[in-house]
Amino acid sequence: MPLVPMTAFTEDVKKHKYAVGQFNLNNLEFTQAITEAAMEEKSPVIFGVSEGALKYMGIDYTVAIARVAAERAGVPVALHLDHGSNFDMVMKCIRAGFSSVMFDGSHHSFEDNLRLTKQVVEAAHAVGVSVEGELGTIGGVEDDLSVDEEDATLANPEEAIRFWEETKVDYVAIAVGTAHGMYKGVPKIRYDIIEKVASNIGAPIVLHGGSGVPDEAIIESIRLGVGKINVNTESQVACTETVRKVLAAKPNEIDPRKYLGPARDAIKEVVKGKMRLFGSSNRA
Ligand code: G3H
Ligand code: ZN
Repeated sequence: MPLVPMTAFTEDVKKHKYAVGQFNLNNLEFTQAITEAAMEEKSPVIFGVSEGALKYMGIDYTVAIARVAAERAGVPVALHLDHGSNFDMVMKCIRAGFSSVMFDGSHHSFEDNLRLTKQVVEAAHAVGVSVEGELGTIGGVEDDLSVDEEDATLANPEEAIRFWEETKVDYVAIAVGTAHGMYKGVPKIRYDIIEKVASNIGAPIVLHGGSGVPDEAIIESIRLGVGKINVNTESQVACTETVRKVLAAKPNEIDPRKYLGPARDAIKEVVKGKMRLFGSSNRA
């Protein structure tokens, strides 16, 4: 089936209270691993592609690989620009064939974020592409996106509600205490913010920085209204640790398939585990 916008998931996510995982693409093996996981779990899935990954993979390759994956998967697959930083990048991805985009205006003032996100929603919705917006700044490092802990700011619930009312974004990412990358301690998630926002808007909440969040925190966040959870670092750690292990056992190995193949399997296991935890297995 063709790539779908994230709005294809919304009704079922809200009705059955689960979350669809966004798993970031970094190369072909990530794409294959995430696709196989979705097929085996019979789960809807979102391919997330950051601007850094786009630079590395190429927008044309990315769309082509995603399209092939969606055709063969037999489950609904969205191709989603992750943390799009400007209108041009968002439009470039839509023109190339992305079915969903995030405009991350969280580093702008609230009013500018509102204004710029509205522009993106108007253009994207005109061609059936879904939009995710962001309120509050999520800490940590994700590609070229780096926010120091002291600069990370929690989302203001009243602003988040007004943001959704005025922009009508399809998914709302709010900073509630998670961060990109692996955590040093246990993240303190502001469930009160999730609950306040989720009970006053019609769109699912997005949790960024899903790697390393304890299972019970994930389950509680979904119960309160999180309908999309992003995971990248855990998949990258599984991939790279496997490559290191294979090369440590066979230092003279030169065939990339001998270490990228096992890495692909390791990524798949991480993704399958998250789909079960998020409750999206057997929801396709
Ligand atoms: O946008 C991508 C996600 O927020 C990734 O976060 O690498 O901490 O799982 P993570
Ligand atoms: Zn993120």
